[in-house]
Amino acid sequence: MTADAVHLRNVRFAYTAGHPVLWVDELRIQAGHRSFLHGPSGSGKTTLLSLISGVLVPQQGSIHILGQDLTHLSASARDTLRGSQIGYIFQGFNLIPYLSVEENIALPCNLHPARRARIATPTLSGEVERLARRLDIHRHLHAPVTHLSVGQQQRVAIARAIIGSPALVIADEPTSALDTDRREAFLSLLTEVTVEAKLRDSTAMTLLFVSHDRSLAAHFDSLLSLPEINRYNQHMESSEAAAQ
Ligand SMILES: Nc1ncnc2c1ncn2[C@@H]1O[C@H](COP(=O)(O)OP(=O)(O)OP(=O)(O)O)[C@@H](O)[C@H]1O
Ligand SMILES: [Mg+2]
Repeated sequence: MTADAVHLRNVRFAYTAGHPVLWVDELRIQAGHRSFLHGPSGSGKTTLLSLISGVLVPQQGSIHILGQDLTHLSASARDTLRGSQIGYIFQGFNLIPYLSVEENIALPCNLHPARRARIATPTLSGEVERLARRLDIHRHLHAPVTHLSVGQQQRVAIARAIIGSPALVIADEPTSALDTDRREAFLSLLTEVTVEAKLRDSTAMTLLFVSHDRSLAAHFDSLLSLPEINRYNQHMESSEAAAQ
Protein backbone atom coordinates (compact mmCIF):
# COMPACT_ATOMS: atom_id res chain seq x y z
CA MET A 1 0.00 0.00 0.00
CA THR A 2 1.32 3.45 -0.89
CA ALA A 3 0.98 6.16 1.73
CA ASP A 4 -0.98 9.29 0.93
CA ALA A 5 0.75 12.60 1.64
CA VAL A 6 -2.64 14.32 1.48
CA HIS A 7 -6.06 12.81 2.10
CA LEU A 8 -9.22 14.92 2.39
CA ARG A 9 -12.58 13.37 3.15
CA ASN A 10 -15.95 15.06 3.06
CA VAL A 11 -14.43 18.51 3.56
CA ARG A 12 -16.67 21.55 3.58
CA PHE A 13 -15.38 25.06 4.04
CA ALA A 14 -16.93 28.54 4.05
CA TYR A 15 -15.21 31.83 4.96
CA THR A 16 -18.59 33.15 6.06
CA ALA A 17 -21.65 31.19 7.10
CA GLY A 18 -24.06 30.57 4.24
CA HIS A 19 -21.42 31.15 1.51
CA PRO A 20 -19.70 27.77 1.01
CA VAL A 21 -16.51 27.85 -1.08
CA LEU A 22 -15.33 24.24 -1.02
CA TRP A 23 -17.01 20.86 -0.78
CA VAL A 24 -14.61 18.00 -1.49
CA ASP A 25 -15.82 14.41 -1.12
CA GLU A 26 -12.38 12.86 -1.42
CA LEU A 27 -8.94 13.95 -2.53
CA ARG A 28 -5.83 11.78 -2.24
CA ILE A 29 -2.30 12.75 -3.23
CA GLN A 30 0.17 9.91 -3.13
CA ALA A 31 3.46 10.49 -1.31
CA GLY A 32 6.28 11.27 -3.72
CA HIS A 33 3.93 12.26 -6.56
CA ARG A 34 4.00 15.55 -8.44
CA SER A 35 0.45 16.86 -8.87
CA PHE A 36 -0.82 19.75 -10.93
CA LEU A 37 -3.95 21.53 -9.69
CA HIS A 38 -5.78 23.86 -12.04
CA GLY A 39 -9.07 25.72 -12.09
CA PRO A 40 -10.43 29.16 -12.95
CA SER A 41 -9.89 32.21 -10.78
CA GLY A 42 -12.10 32.10 -7.71
CA SER A 43 -12.67 28.32 -7.91
CA GLY A 44 -10.99 27.80 -4.52
CA LYS A 45 -7.41 26.74 -5.32
CA THR A 46 -5.71 28.95 -2.72
CA THR A 47 -8.44 28.07 -0.20
CA LEU A 48 -7.73 24.36 -0.75
CA LEU A 49 -3.98 24.94 -0.28
CA SER A 50 -4.67 26.87 2.95
CA LEU A 51 -6.73 23.93 4.23
CA ILE A 52 -4.01 21.42 3.26
CA SER A 53 -1.36 23.50 5.00
CA GLY A 54 -3.52 23.93 8.12
CA VAL A 55 -3.86 27.71 7.89
CA LEU A 56 -7.62 27.28 7.56
CA VAL A 57 -9.74 24.63 9.28
CA PRO A 58 -12.84 23.18 7.61
CA GLN A 59 -16.28 23.33 9.21
CA GLN A 60 -16.71 19.63 8.33
CA GLY A 61 -14.61 16.64 7.31
CA SER A 62 -11.08 15.39 7.86
CA ILE A 63 -7.73 16.46 6.38
CA HIS A 64 -4.89 13.99 6.84
CA ILE A 65 -1.47 15.36 6.00
CA LEU A 66 1.40 12.86 6.19
CA GLY A 67 -0.80 10.61 8.30
CA GLN A 68 -1.90 13.27 10.82
CA ASP A 69 -5.45 14.56 10.97
CA LEU A 70 -5.08 18.36 10.96
CA THR A 71 -8.63 18.81 12.18
CA HIS A 72 -7.65 17.10 15.45
CA LEU A 73 -4.53 19.21 16.02
CA SER A 74 -4.27 22.45 17.99
CA ALA A 75 -3.34 25.63 16.09
CA SER A 76 0.22 25.44 17.43
CA ALA A 77 0.57 21.74 16.47
CA ARG A 78 -0.63 22.65 12.95
CA ASP A 79 1.96 25.46 12.82
CA THR A 80 4.70 23.00 13.81
CA LEU A 81 3.60 20.43 11.23
CA ARG A 82 3.46 23.12 8.55
CA GLY A 83 6.83 24.62 9.45
CA SER A 84 8.66 21.32 9.65
CA GLN A 85 6.98 19.36 6.84
CA ILE A 86 5.62 21.83 4.30
CA GLY A 87 7.57 24.12 1.99
CA TYR A 88 5.29 26.81 0.54
CA ILE A 89 5.96 28.96 -2.51
CA PHE A 90 3.51 31.85 -2.55
CA GLN A 91 2.32 33.66 -5.67
CA GLY A 92 3.95 36.86 -4.42
CA PHE A 93 6.84 34.84 -2.88
CA ASN A 94 6.29 36.43 0.61
CA LEU A 95 10.03 36.87 1.10
CA ILE A 96 10.95 38.90 4.19
CA PRO A 97 12.00 42.31 2.81
CA TYR A 98 14.32 43.31 5.68
CA LEU A 99 16.32 40.05 5.55
CA SER A 100 19.15 39.17 3.17
CA VAL A 101 18.87 36.40 0.59
CA GLU A 102 20.85 34.08 2.88
CA GLU A 103 18.64 34.86 5.89
CA ASN A 104 15.46 34.32 3.86
CA ILE A 105 16.62 30.90 2.65
CA ALA A 106 17.76 29.82 6.14
CA LEU A 107 14.59 31.05 7.86
CA PRO A 108 12.58 27.77 7.95
CA CYS A 109 15.57 25.98 9.52
CA ASN A 110 16.03 28.72 12.11
CA LEU A 111 12.34 28.59 13.03
CA HIS A 112 11.86 24.80 12.92
CA PRO A 113 14.46 22.48 14.48
CA ALA A 114 13.10 19.47 12.54
CA ARG A 115 13.94 21.20 9.23
CA ARG A 116 17.40 22.08 10.55
CA ALA A 117 17.99 18.49 11.73
CA ARG A 118 17.34 17.04 8.26
CA ILE A 119 20.16 18.98 6.61
CA ALA A 120 22.92 16.66 5.42
CA THR A 121 25.51 19.44 4.85
CA PRO A 122 27.59 19.99 8.06
CA THR A 123 26.47 23.60 8.57
CA LEU A 124 23.27 25.50 7.81
CA SER A 125 25.22 28.21 5.98
CA GLY A 126 26.88 25.48 3.90
CA GLU A 127 23.48 24.14 2.88
CA VAL A 128 22.20 27.64 2.04
CA GLU A 129 25.31 28.16 -0.11
CA ARG A 130 24.87 24.77 -1.86
CA LEU A 131 21.23 25.49 -2.72
CA ALA A 132 22.01 29.07 -3.78
CA ARG A 133 24.72 27.80 -6.16
CA ARG A 134 22.36 25.20 -7.56
CA LEU A 135 19.80 27.93 -8.24
CA ASP A 136 22.41 30.42 -9.48
CA ILE A 137 21.74 33.09 -6.84
CA HIS A 138 24.91 32.53 -4.77
CA ARG A 139 26.42 35.87 -5.85
CA HIS A 140 23.54 37.63 -4.11
CA LEU A 141 23.52 35.77 -0.78
CA HIS A 142 24.38 38.85 1.26
CA ALA A 143 22.22 41.30 -0.68
CA PRO A 144 18.87 42.52 0.62
CA VAL A 145 16.27 40.32 -1.03
CA THR A 146 14.51 43.42 -2.40
CA HIS A 147 17.55 44.12 -4.61
CA LEU A 148 16.96 40.97 -6.66
CA SER A 149 15.05 40.66 -9.92
CA VAL A 150 11.68 38.90 -9.91
CA GLY A 151 13.21 35.76 -11.48
CA GLN A 152 15.94 35.72 -8.82
CA GLN A 153 13.38 36.19 -6.03
CA GLN A 154 11.48 33.19 -7.38
CA ARG A 155 14.62 31.10 -7.02
CA VAL A 156 15.08 32.36 -3.44
CA ALA A 157 11.48 31.23 -2.82
CA ILE A 158 12.29 27.76 -4.23
CA ALA A 159 15.39 27.47 -2.00
CA ARG A 160 13.40 28.54 1.07
CA ALA A 161 10.65 26.04 0.26
CA ILE A 162 12.90 23.01 -0.18
CA ILE A 163 15.63 23.62 2.43
CA GLY A 164 15.54 20.97 5.15
CA SER A 165 13.59 18.59 2.86
CA PRO A 166 9.95 19.16 3.80
CA ALA A 167 7.82 16.15 2.83
CA LEU A 168 5.33 18.33 0.94
CA VAL A 169 6.13 21.29 -1.31
CA ILE A 170 3.20 23.50 -2.31
CA ALA A 171 3.48 26.15 -5.02
CA ASP A 172 0.56 28.56 -5.53
CA GLU A 173 0.70 30.10 -9.03
CA PRO A 174 4.41 30.91 -8.79
CA THR A 175 4.68 31.37 -12.56
CA SER A 176 1.72 33.63 -13.28
CA ALA A 177 3.91 36.70 -13.87
CA LEU A 178 6.27 34.89 -16.26
CA ASP A 179 6.23 34.44 -20.01
CA THR A 180 5.92 30.89 -21.40
CA ASP A 181 9.66 30.16 -21.74
CA ARG A 182 10.39 31.38 -18.23
CA ARG A 183 7.50 29.33 -16.84
CA GLU A 184 8.97 26.18 -18.37
CA ALA A 185 12.42 27.05 -17.01
CA PHE A 186 11.07 27.73 -13.51
CA LEU A 187 9.16 24.47 -13.50
CA SER A 188 12.12 22.44 -14.77
CA LEU A 189 14.27 23.92 -12.02
CA LEU A 190 11.67 23.21 -9.33
CA THR A 191 11.27 19.64 -10.60
CA GLU A 192 15.02 19.08 -10.71
CA VAL A 193 15.66 20.34 -7.19
CA THR A 194 12.80 18.29 -5.71
CA VAL A 195 14.08 15.17 -7.51
CA GLU A 196 17.63 15.90 -6.28
CA ALA A 197 16.38 16.40 -2.72
CA LYS A 198 14.64 13.06 -2.98
CA LEU A 199 17.86 11.38 -4.14
CA ARG A 200 20.02 13.06 -1.48
CA ASP A 201 17.78 12.37 1.48
CA SER A 202 15.80 9.38 0.18
CA THR A 203 12.69 11.28 1.22
CA ALA A 204 9.58 11.16 -0.94
CA MET A 205 9.10 14.87 -1.65
CA THR A 206 5.53 15.43 -2.78
CA LEU A 207 4.87 18.44 -4.99
CA LEU A 208 1.50 20.16 -5.35
CA PHE A 209 1.67 22.89 -7.97
CA VAL A 210 -1.15 25.29 -8.83
CA SER A 211 -1.50 27.17 -12.09
CA HIS A 212 -4.08 28.49 -14.51
CA ASP A 213 -1.74 27.45 -17.33
CA ARG A 214 -2.68 23.91 -18.31
CA SER A 215 0.18 23.68 -20.81
CA LEU A 216 2.44 23.04 -17.79
CA ALA A 217 0.54 19.86 -16.90
CA ALA A 218 2.85 17.61 -18.93
CA HIS A 219 5.54 18.02 -16.25
CA PHE A 220 3.44 16.24 -13.61
CA ASP A 221 2.42 12.71 -12.59
CA SER A 222 -1.21 13.63 -12.04
CA LEU A 223 -3.65 16.32 -12.99
CA LEU A 224 -6.33 17.64 -10.62
CA SER A 225 -9.13 19.90 -11.77
CA LEU A 226 -10.62 21.94 -8.94
CA PRO A 227 -14.05 22.36 -10.59
CA GLU A 228 -14.16 18.54 -10.82
CA ILE A 229 -13.07 18.02 -7.21
CA ASN A 230 -15.20 20.80 -5.76
CA ARG A 231 -18.84 19.71 -5.60
CA TYR A 232 -19.81 23.26 -4.73
CA ASN A 233 -18.46 24.48 -8.14
CA GLN A 234 -20.42 21.73 -9.92
CA HIS A 235 -23.50 22.76 -8.05
CA MET A 236 -22.89 26.41 -9.03
CA GLU A 237 -22.30 25.50 -12.67
CA SER A 238 -25.46 23.38 -12.92
CA SER A 239 -27.62 26.06 -11.28
CA GLU A 240 -26.11 28.69 -13.62
CA ALA A 241 -26.86 26.46 -16.61
CA ALA A 242 -30.41 25.92 -15.38
CA ALA A 243 -30.91 29.69 -15.05
CA GLN A 244 -29.92 30.28 -18.71
N1 LIG B 1 -10.28 35.67 3.09
C1 LIG B 1 -11.42 35.48 2.41
N2 LIG B 1 -12.61 35.86 2.94
C2 LIG B 1 -13.78 35.66 2.28
N3 LIG B 1 -13.85 35.06 1.07
C3 LIG B 1 -12.71 34.67 0.50
C4 LIG B 1 -11.43 34.85 1.13
N4 LIG B 1 -10.47 34.35 0.32
C5 LIG B 1 -11.11 33.89 -0.78
N5 LIG B 1 -12.45 34.06 -0.67
C6 LIG B 1 -13.46 33.65 -1.66
O1 LIG B 1 -13.36 32.24 -1.85
C7 LIG B 1 -13.47 31.89 -3.24
C8 LIG B 1 -12.24 31.11 -3.66
O2 LIG B 1 -11.10 31.96 -3.56
P1 LIG B 1 -9.63 31.42 -3.81
O3 LIG B 1 -8.69 32.53 -3.46
O4 LIG B 1 -9.45 30.12 -3.11
O5 LIG B 1 -9.67 31.16 -5.40
P2 LIG B 1 -8.49 30.78 -6.40
O6 LIG B 1 -8.97 29.59 -7.19
O7 LIG B 1 -7.21 30.64 -5.66
O8 LIG B 1 -8.46 32.04 -7.36
P3 LIG B 1 -7.21 32.74 -8.14
O9 LIG B 1 -6.92 31.85 -9.32
O10 LIG B 1 -7.75 34.05 -8.55
O11 LIG B 1 -6.04 32.84 -7.19
C9 LIG B 1 -13.66 33.21 -3.98
O12 LIG B 1 -15.04 33.34 -4.22
C10 LIG B 1 -13.19 34.28 -3.02
O13 LIG B 1 -13.93 35.46 -3.17
MG1 LIG C 1 -5.39 31.69 -5.71
